[in-house]
Amino acid sequence: RMKIAVVGGGSTYTPELVDGFARLFPDVTELALVDPARDRLDVVGPFAQRIFGAYGHQGRVTYTEDLDAGLADASVVVIQLRIGGQQARISDETFPLECGCVGQETTGAGGLAKALRTVPVVLDVAERARRLSAPDAWIIDFTNPVGIVTRALLDAGHRAIGLCNVAIGFQRRFAAMLDVDPASVILDHVGLNHLTWERAAYVSDVDRLPELMGAHLKELADHLDMPVDVLSTLGSVPSYYLRYFYCHDEVVRQERGQQTRGQKVAEIEAELLRMYADPNLSTKPELLGQRGGAFYSEAAVGLIASLRSDDGTVHSANVRNRGHLPFLSDDAVIEVSSRVGRDGAVPIPTAPVGPLMSGLIAHVSAYEELAVAAAVHGGRSRVYQAMLAHPLIGQHEKAEVLTDRLLAVNAAHLAWA
Ligand code: G6P
Ligand code: MN
Repeated sequence: RMKIAVVGGGSTYTPELVDGFARLFPDVTELALVDPARDRLDVVGPFAQRIFGAYGHQGRVTYTEDLDAGLADASVVVIQLRIGGQQARISDETFPLECGCVGQETTGAGGLAKALRTVPVVLDVAERARRLSAPDAWIIDFTNPVGIVTRALLDAGHRAIGLCNVAIGFQRRFAAMLDVDPASVILDHVGLNHLTWERAAYVSDVDRLPELMGAHLKELADHLDMPVDVLSTLGSVPSYYLRYFYCHDEVVRQERGQQTRGQKVAEIEAELLRMYADPNLSTKPELLGQRGGAFYSEAAVGLIASLRSDDGTVHSANVRNRGHLPFLSDDAVIEVSSRVGRDGAVPIPTAPVGPLMSGLIAHVSAYEELAVAAAVHGGRSRVYQAMLAHPLIGQHEKAEVLTDRLLAVNAAHLAWA
């Protein structure tokens, strides 16, 4: 028996996850979608059932508003929730702009706001899971900001691994460029969630990244919307979230004149829900491809399969540092290529990380430690400290104003504010 509970199962992203389980994971006996939003469940739930049916999957899809019932006896709990919905996201994407800081839901002040809203809720879900789920259950966290949320989960003693689709996206892209099977590409993926670089791409133990960057540099840079020089200087391929650092002021200028991503996503979601409600639709629609979550289902299926089968496959995962990056504390959570088996994910040995990356990683990791403290314990001064420690904020005046703004616009979501 393998029951998988998906907390936040009413998400418009869920059909992506369901499609992955339906195609690739016959062992699943029950997929339980849990969500407080009945109206979404009533659309996404039946659609998920049709997807399982269309692939002839033998497991059943259930859906419920009752969190405890959904968690009961689950072997795996996937958490993918968004407190405050797209409305809160739009706020994360706009309030920092007033101070000339990037407006983004996982980076900078917006990411801190999201962490403060989210961490207490995820910890509560995890506590319930500890009581109700199978004794050796794993928590797979997709909830952003994944690095901070995972660190809070591990601090509280949960069996948790954080997951993001950035690495698997590069694995798929590189495989296509090299014309090889994606599973044969092993990345040297290093950093923190949404602050990562691909430093190597091994195929049969040969690093093909230099060759690949030589042949496709412009294409890679264009896709990331970053100058070619950044990539060639790094000699690595940064995740597109590094654009918020390397091109910060340019991003702020662009964001000031644009619709926010949250607004765009809200439009896509309304259309997706209309489509999902069609009883004749039983495969995920093209439109879902306009969301950022490509391959996240395959990342989840791959990780869960390795946790259960103990196959030792390499996946990128958010795990405790424990000396892997010597310039970070052992308790830091890092996102690195890891070998995954029954006991979890263990980083694979990697070359030393040089100062071009290590300084930034250490800086953001210190911020994350303070962000966890602020989210768990609350208090204005902890929020201010996290702002002051963030490399994209850093100055006293900005940190003061952004702290006040964050608390004002998020008061409804913060028990202590
Ligand atoms: C990528 C990131 C996710 C993020 C998503 C946003 O998948 O890895 O962490 O949530 O993009 O996509 P969206 O369509 O919501 O902008
Ligand atoms: Mn991510």
